[in-house]
Amino acid sequence: MRTKSKKKQFKYMTNLKAFSKERVLAKIKELKQLPFGEVFINCKFNGVDYKLIFLTSECGKDANLMNIIGGWRKKNEIWFACKFEVTVERTTKWFKERLIDAPDRLLFIIKVGNEYIGHVGLFRFDFENGTCEIDNIIRGESGYPGIMNDAIRNMMDWGKAILGLKGYSLKTFLDNERAVRLYEKLGFKEISRIPMIQVEGKDGLEWVEAPEGYDGEINKYDLVMKLF
Ligand SMILES: CC(C)(COP(=O)(O)OP(=O)(O)OC[C@H]1O[C@@H](n2cnc3c(N)ncnc32)[C@H](O)[C@@H]1OP(=O)(O)O)[C@@H](O)C(=O)NCCC(=O)NCCS
Repeated sequence: MRTKSKKKQFKYMTNLKAFSKERVLAKIKELKQLPFGEVFINCKFNGVDYKLIFLTSECGKDANLMNIIGGWRKKNEIWFACKFEVTVERTTKWFKERLIDAPDRLLFIIKVGNEYIGHVGLFRFDFENGTCEIDNIIRGESGYPGIMNDAIRNMMDWGKAILGLKGYSLKTFLDNERAVRLYEKLGFKEISRIPMIQVEGKDGLEWVEAPEGYDGEINKYDLVMKLF
């Protein structure tokens, strides 16, 4: 039912006949410069209307929003490669340098009524194959079970319609059972496992890929999944 009207639903459509690196990066850059709230995806899940709102450059000036996003990251830090002290300043720096200034990265915040409940994003485009990774999936608040699944689905539809993406992949820790379950429900399947080791990073211990030939004990894996 959705597919027929899907393309018309999205504002700021481009006529992307073929997936092109230049056009995709220009589009993401353009969207990031717009006022926050202007680019969104209207969604409905279990009879509840909600929005995926594209985070733009000006969000970095909203200390309240930075505080919310930082708080969610802190709460869920065990599921990410590195841990760091989370402050509004630090989140704002991350937001500007790692999200806004990253040409192939974008994030949508999930808003139900007046409440933000999490975010979903895209990162690391493979311009040769027309695919990218699902990134920064965080449920910040409880409620509406199944909405994260629906939000990712809607974002992937948007990516196909607006950016011309043809497929998606992702990485998650193998022991992140909830995340793995969520991605399997969406149709992602395992393609490989990357052995991980913990090293001393700039801000403390962080997980990185084990180097070639590493013969120590491995008890953590990054699961690489692809949508089929
Ligand atoms: C990973 C994460 C986003 C999953 O969130 P979630 O709340 O499980 O996801 P959903 O909102 O899709 O809810 C799924 C649950 O709702 C249930 N559900 C109910 N109705 C549903 C529907 N119509 N469609 C899908 N699921 C539905 C599912 O059965 C599932 O329950 P279960 O876990 O008992 O099987 C969340 O655990 C999280 O933020 N974790 C920390 C950060 C993280 O690990 N991110 C991923 C890094 S790769």
